[in-house]
Amino acid sequence: MSLKRNAYEKLYSGFLSKFPEDYAINLGRSFLRFPIEFLGRYETDDGRLLTKIGNCELPNLVILSACYHEPHIIKKAMRLGFGGVTLKVTKYPKKGNREPTIVRRGEGFVNCVGFENLGMEGYKKFLKSHRRKKPIILNITGDNKNEYLDVVSGLENYADMFELNISCPNTENGMNFSKYPEKVKDLFRESRNLTEKPIIIKLSPDKEFEENNYKRIIPYAVDSGIDVVNFGNTRSFKDERLSIGSGGLSGPNLYENVLMNVERIYDKFGRYLKIIATGGIDSPEKAYEAIVRGATCVSYVTGFVTKGPFLAKGINKHLSEKLDEQGMESIGDLVGFWHTP
Ligand SMILES: Cc1cc2nc3c(=O)[nH]c(=O)nc-3n(C[C@H](O)[C@H](O)[C@H](O)COP(=O)(O)O)c2cc1C
Repeated sequence: MSLKRNAYEKLYSGFLSKFPEDYAINLGRSFLRFPIEFLGRYETDDGRLLTKIGNCELPNLVILSACYHEPHIIKKAMRLGFGGVTLKVTKYPKKGNREPTIVRRGEGFVNCVGFENLGMEGYKKFLKSHRRKKPIILNITGDNKNEYLDVVSGLENYADMFELNISCPNTENGMNFSKYPEKVKDLFRESRNLTEKPIIIKLSPDKEFEENNYKRIIPYAVDSGIDVVNFGNTRSFKDERLSIGSGGLSGPNLYENVLMNVERIYDKFGRYLKIIATGGIDSPEKAYEAIVRGATCVSYVTGFVTKGPFLAKGINKHLSEKLDEQGMESIGDLVGFWHTP
């Protein structure tokens, strides 16, 4: 492990993790205002890691998953070695739930942040003026189909990819599309008609939606011409410390289930779609394993907080070494490698 990654982990486990969560998270957010991009080199220049999703090219396959809504964090993340970064957005501005909205649980978090964000109009200026260092994925949540569609059409010229979040465990309507999958048919078809940019469907890892995912949601996505899924979101979790008594669990506890599902989706639907693996990926080895089981990209949030800004670089370095070991020309050759007969 690199010295810098090690130093951050010590800082986190010895210092930041001792503060109350909200305080630690705000400290982390303030930390991102410092010019940490000058602490070292974050980017990979290994051209073999270049990854294509539809008509979008990412310099590498590591994505910062949906969590942040602040333009300054998104800008900063673009300089921290990621291949793409995700910005969450709803049609109208939202304040999110009242505090406390995030608590620690094991090595991860349970959050009920809700969707604090500026709303689609509030991001236009930033998205337009901003010189793109990396592709931006807009993670959209809505209370109904039209709210999703309005964001897709309103920000069509501003995004590189769209992600439809149909699996949020911490708002009233967040799970409606996962619970009643017939509703997603129109959402998927109509979104697809509005844009040629890649659309990602973000799935729930909750056991109760497993059957819906495999029998309805993924097949409907494929039928609509949508060819990327993200497995997945946080897992529904009760925690009385949170203002609304429950939220979504993130972090290492999700990882084994993510691997199982990546493998299963790849086996069943790998010919039709690409998979983003999300949930508990916080080391280069875990990222590698998700890829050889079938993930085209990996993404994370919790690892960014607990393992620090050098994790993406560490993952990319590890993947380059694996390509050398196998004598491979492109990261695409590693995707699903363990399935190859
Ligand atoms: C504080 C917080 C806020 C999040 N907000 C969103 C969101 O707005 N939309 C979404 O699709 N996922 C959201 N997520 C879920 C993450 O994108 C990710 O799917 C999940 O945390 C699992 O990955 P991890 O274990 O690497 O954190 C959020 C997660 C956290 C911890």
